[in-house]
Amino acid sequence: MSDDDVKSADSSGNKIQKMQTPNGIHDILPKDHEFFTFIKKVARHRFRQAGFRRITTPVIEHTEVFQRGVGEDTDIVSKEMYTFEDRSGRSLTLKPEGTAGAVRAYIQHGMKEWPQPVELYYIEPHFRYDRPQKGRYRMFWQIGAEIIGESDPALDVQCIFIAYKMFKDLGIDKRISLQINNIGSQKSREKYREALLNYYSGKERSLCDDCRRRLSSNPLRLLDCKVEDCQILARLAPQFADYRTPEDQAFHDLVKSFLDELGIVYTENPQLVRGLDYYTQTVFEFWDSEVGSQNAVGGGGRYDGLVELMGGSETPAVGFALGIERLINQMKAANVNVPSKDEVHVFVAQLGDEAKKKCLRIIDNLREAGIRTVGALGKGSMKAQLRLADKFQVPYCLILGATEVRDGVILVRDMAKGQQHPVPMTEIVPEMIRLLGEDKLDRYSPGEIFN
Ligand code: HAM
Repeated sequence: MSDDDVKSADSSGNKIQKMQTPNGIHDILPKDHEFFTFIKKVARHRFRQAGFRRITTPVIEHTEVFQRGVGEDTDIVSKEMYTFEDRSGRSLTLKPEGTAGAVRAYIQHGMKEWPQPVELYYIEPHFRYDRPQKGRYRMFWQIGAEIIGESDPALDVQCIFIAYKMFKDLGIDKRISLQINNIGSQKSREKYREALLNYYSGKERSLCDDCRRRLSSNPLRLLDCKVEDCQILARLAPQFADYRTPEDQAFHDLVKSFLDELGIVYTENPQLVRGLDYYTQTVFEFWDSEVGSQNAVGGGGRYDGLVELMGGSETPAVGFALGIERLINQMKAANVNVPSKDEVHVFVAQLGDEAKKKCLRIIDNLREAGIRTVGALGKGSMKAQLRLADKFQVPYCLILGATEVRDGVILVRDMAKGQQHPVPMTEIVPEMIRLLGEDKLDRYSPGEIFN
């Protein structure tokens, strides 16, 4: 333990280790929650508009869900999962991504009897034991969507279009470049796999350890290795486009023509294969247009074989996910200001027991009217309370002492002007609404959701 790890001592003089979040795992503090809230609102709105319904799969699943779903040889499964045994010795894993769990739920709950396709979305934390750096965390949040039960290429484009709409809503569409590729069906990839094996034969020594391993398990993955020497070889490797069947090509051409129809600009990227094994046909990623593949903002694609692989019947599907932290980084880089609902409107300062008693009801009445109100219900002096009101940066402070209680009034202090005027207690709510403006009120009625 270094001195840095030791913060203080307890009452018996024992040193206490400084408590911190684990490496790569962070708190979401109130300021970032303003971004989170805004992004989630945009996502919910766009998904609802398109007929998606929300699903939450558990944070923990049986390890096989990911081994089978994502693929044993992927980095995610082989190196990055948080896996542990429960007390009965069963292997469980914190979910590293959302698709495998959604497909498990589709099968488990017989969703193939629902109207098809089933359109689901989720906003969830995920966990990957990756090397932490800016934009890459061990616990991160994704917005994801899965369309299960339909093979039409229009749905691949629908996924891309919804993501694109969100980028626009978030003010970052100009910063994002869409990369697309078509990697064919499992079957049509066999010939290409052979071509890749031939190409890499004799070049094994120039490959990184991971690629040498992947050569036997999934040679396609060699194409998107980030190691420079591997990238040089990948650029010269045979291209899948030359091995695509006419059906795959027709599918890809339709995807592109739908994107053109919607005016969505894309870059065809023959190297793009994605890091999860379940993909077939369309794959896509959203990159920072300047930075490129590092820290992609999102990605997805078609996964027509996954439902069957996980024990269901043959069912086509497509989906995508966006990383919320990466969206926030983009919004910050674009200087996007999110609306904040955290500002407090009114601070209530009081002195004496009688005043405090009156304040309890007044604070409640103000809050019920939609006025965000903080009451200093502690024992501080009036001066200390006013200093606190200043720190909250409230536009108005209400002051109530023994004299005001006796006279049935409250002093309303305009903090910017430093002026105050008395208002009868019975009039305080309408007066504050008048001063703040109806449009500033934070009104919420749970009843609204039933209408
Ligand atoms: P993915 O590309 O692994 O795809 O992750 C999607 C997005 O999650 C990434 O583009 C990135 O924004 C974010 N992300 C991933 N790892 C991290 C990390 N360590 N730190 C911060 N953000 C991260 C999937 O997960 C697929 N399930 C997407 C999908 C849904 N495909 C079909 N349906």
